[in-house]
Amino acid sequence: MIIGGSSSQKLAASIAKKMDDVLCPLESKKFPDGERYIRIKGDIEENVVVVQSTGYPQDENLIELFLILKTIRKMGIKKIRTVIPYFGYGRQEKSFNHGEAVSAEVVSQLIQESGASEIYSINLHEESICNLFNIPAYNLSAMPAIASFIGENVEDPVILAPDKGALGFAHEISNILNCESDYLEKIRLSPNKVETKPKNLDVDGRDVVIIDDIISTGGTIVNACKILKEHGASRIVVSCVHPVLVEDALLKIFTAGADEVVSTDTLKSEVSTVSVASVVAEALKKGS
Ligand code: R5P
Repeated sequence: MIIGGSSSQKLAASIAKKMDDVLCPLESKKFPDGERYIRIKGDIEENVVVVQSTGYPQDENLIELFLILKTIRKMGIKKIRTVIPYFGYGRQEKSFNHGEAVSAEVVSQLIQESGASEIYSINLHEESICNLFNIPAYNLSAMPAIASFIGENVEDPVILAPDKGALGFAHEISNILNCESDYLEKIRLSPNKVETKPKNLDVDGRDVVIIDDIISTGGTIVNACKILKEHGASRIVVSCVHPVLVEDALLKIFTAGADEVVSTDTLKSEVSTVSVASVVAEALKKGS
């Protein structure tokens, strides 16, 4: 039985379909004062899968997740596999400055204490978030799904990471598609002059696919698009796993020269065309 929280209803339905499982009806609403109410409206069976991304509005989606988990647990269900396609607060997995809250740790503990028995997430910002849980936690990769989209839509692409940190994603895709990959490298030419360009490949006249885990403000991708245009890229397809897309991020990216933007459906957006449903369903099938 699959329960889809407010933030992941469509994805939950796709996962249920792939698993040949049923969706459990859930009533979720906000009281006039802003507090949330949830009611599980079906007969719950052992072996429940809850699907809820904890992106914007993060706090509301988290509270809803806690309420769902706790309610199922109170109904006597012990195996509650919890799919959190986009893991909010994942960027603060340690204390960078004295006195900072380790938000990812706090959130992980609360999810666990609410009743989750296993966690499945997609491309966590830091793999180490899995270690914050005392229950099995799996960090799945959306790269095979994104690679499949690229393979069907872009001929002879160069897969490009906007920085060295994202190079692993570019490699994962280029290994699947058997094509070239590279990353944008910053070179300091003088104390006040920095040049950023593709490290090894010439992108002149090539179709380039940029891949990153998250697009938030779009700043990283805007910079990459501008550099690729300067270096003569013919077509620029921007791809990411999690379309956080703050404010007018998409507009900025298109203005910078992107021809297409595509993301997965870990978060709802107008570019969420690649589904992670198969990736999640396969992992759940293996684990059951
Ligand atoms: C950084 O570590 C991430 O991989 C992304 O590059 C970053 O979150 C993108 O943020 P923005 O869209 O605000 O540049």
